[in-house]
Amino acid sequence: MADAPDGDRAVRTVVCADALDWLAENPLPDDCAVLTSLPDVSEFRKLAFDDWVDWFGAAAEAVLRATPPNSVAMFYQSDIRFEGRWIDKGYLVQRAAERVGCSLLWHRIVCRAPAGVSTGRRPGYAHLLCFSRAFQAPEADGVTDVLPQMGSMTWSRATGTEACEFALTWLQRHTEARVVVDPFCGYGTVLAVANNLGLAAIGVERSPARAKKARELRL
Ligand SMILES: C[S@@+](CC[C@H](N)C(=O)[O-])C[C@H]1O[C@@H](n2cnc3c(N)ncnc32)[C@H](O)[C@@H]1O
Repeated sequence: MADAPDGDRAVRTVVCADALDWLAENPLPDDCAVLTSLPDVSEFRKLAFDDWVDWFGAAAEAVLRATPPNSVAMFYQSDIRFEGRWIDKGYLVQRAAERVGCSLLWHRIVCRAPAGVSTGRRPGYAHLLCFSRAFQAPEADGVTDVLPQMGSMTWSRATGTEACEFALTWLQRHTEARVVVDPFCGYGTVLAVANNLGLAAIGVERSPARAKKARELRL
């Protein structure tokens, strides 16, 4: 475990570990919320596709179970095509939420490309989903259902910065959470955006090189 130098910025901790092991061993305090993006099948060269689907569901369950009951877990996921099938990762997370008794509080669409533009293999949008076991979201939170832009990407698998800002601003306005946990933090986009908003951040990443980048990323 190592802390990034923070100066007068909000604190950031990045742990190089398997996220599921880490979540099992480190109960999250009540002032934590989760914003994450579960890894795509392309990250698992040794796993058959159906085994990845099972892993993905189990990982979503673990994240949702680890989230404090009165807080929220948010997922940013983009769909894929596989052998003629459309794999809706938002649906996979929703199935996991149903299994562990969490409700969907909201579902936003994030445009990865302008409407009307064909994007080829990957769809032109991503899902941004927010779940909780017991937290009640306001009926109307006054913000858009479709985010026209995802923002910049720190690398090819990154969560767009504007999507992070949207989710974390919602978190600050509507919940008591002041620590953001990203158990699959990659290069640390979620952590850096959280720190910029004055929120503390904890990231977990299995790749040592990516964990190092996540400790150092400044946006
Ligand atoms: C979709 S990327 C996250 C991108 C991140 N939001 C960003 O903007 O940089 C998923 C990350 O999960 C990591 N990962 C995959 N399996 C993991 C595991 N079991 N434990 C921790 N991290 C894992 C991958 O190395 C990858 O960096």
